[in-house]
Amino acid sequence: MFDYTPSPQSLANRVILVTGAGAGIGRVAAQTFAAQGATVILLGRTLRKLETVYDEIEQAGHPQPAIYPMNLEGASPKDYEDMANTLEKEFGRLDGLLHNASLLGTLTPLEMYDIALWFQVMQVNLNAPFLLTKTCLPLLKASKDASVVFTSSSVGRKSRAYWGAYAVSKFGVEGLMQTLADELSNTTIRVNSINPGATRTLMRASAYPGEDPNTLPTPTDIMPLYLYLMSADSQGVNGQALNAQEPKN
Ligand SMILES: NC(=O)c1ccc[n+]([C@@H]2O[C@H](COP(=O)([O-])OP(=O)(O)OC[C@H]3O[C@@H](n4cnc5c(N)ncnc54)[C@H](OP(=O)(O)O)[C@@H]3O)[C@@H](O)[C@H]2O)c1
Repeated sequence: MFDYTPSPQSLANRVILVTGAGAGIGRVAAQTFAAQGATVILLGRTLRKLETVYDEIEQAGHPQPAIYPMNLEGASPKDYEDMANTLEKEFGRLDGLLHNASLLGTLTPLEMYDIALWFQVMQVNLNAPFLLTKTCLPLLKASKDASVVFTSSSVGRKSRAYWGAYAVSKFGVEGLMQTLADELSNTTIRVNSINPGATRTLMRASAYPGEDPNTLPTPTDIMPLYLYLMSADSQGVNGQALNAQEPKN
C-alpha cells in the first residue's frame, strides 16, 4: 500500500466532493474524508445509498455532509451549471474533487462491443469528469489549496484485450488529468490520478466473478493515498499518475 499516515483532522475545514459516493471505494473515501474533518458532498445516482452514507457519517459525529443526487449518464451541461451554482451558494468553494464514479461496461472484444454501451461508459467515465471539472473550476479556484483526483485503472495505463470502453475511457481520464495539471501548474490547484488496484467492491466482483473477494484489499486499505492527495501534505504534487497499491503486473 501507499505509505502515509495523516495527522488527526488532516482535512478539517475542507469541502470535498466525491462522485459515486454511495458504494464501493467512493463510499469509504467519503466516510474517511469526513472522519478526518472534511465536509463531504456525496454525489451519486442512487439516493437511497447516498442517504445511508449520510446517516453513517452523521451518526459517527463527523461534520454534516451534503447529498447531491445526479445521474452522470443523463446529466446535461445545464445540470452541471445548476450543481455548481448550488455549491457556490452553500459552500462558496471546493477544496477537493474526487472523480470516482465509473461504469465497467462489458469485457468483450471490440468487434462485438455494443455501441450504445460504449457511449454510456464514455459518458460516465470520461465526459462526466470533464464536465464536472470544467463547471467546478471557479469553485476550486476559490480555495487556497485545492486537489482534483481522477480515478484511473491498471488498464488505463497499459490496456489489455477485452477491456473495451472501460480501458479506453481510463486512458482518456489520464489524458484529462495531464492536460489539466499542465494548464493549472502555476495555480493553487493540483491534479493527479489514482489507480486503486484490485479492491474488494462490486465492480471488481463483476469483472472477476471467479475470484475470492476475501483475497483482496478492502477500500479502507487503499485510503492512505486518497488522504494524502486530499490533504495539504501533497501540495506541489501535480500531474502524477499514482498507485494506491503496489502494481502486481
Ligand atoms: N474495485 C477495483 O478493483 C478497481 C480497480 C481499478 C479502478 N477502479 C476504479 O475505482 C472507482 C470506484 O470503483 P468501485 O470498485 O468502487 O466501483 P463500484 O463499487 O461499482 O462503485 C461505483 C460507483 O459509481 C457510481 N456510478 C455509476 N454510474 C453512475 C452514474 N451514471 N452516475 C452517478 N454515479 C454512478 C455507482 O453508483 P450506484 O451504486 O448507485 O450504482 C457507485 O457508487 C471507479 O472509477 C473504478 O473504475 C476500481
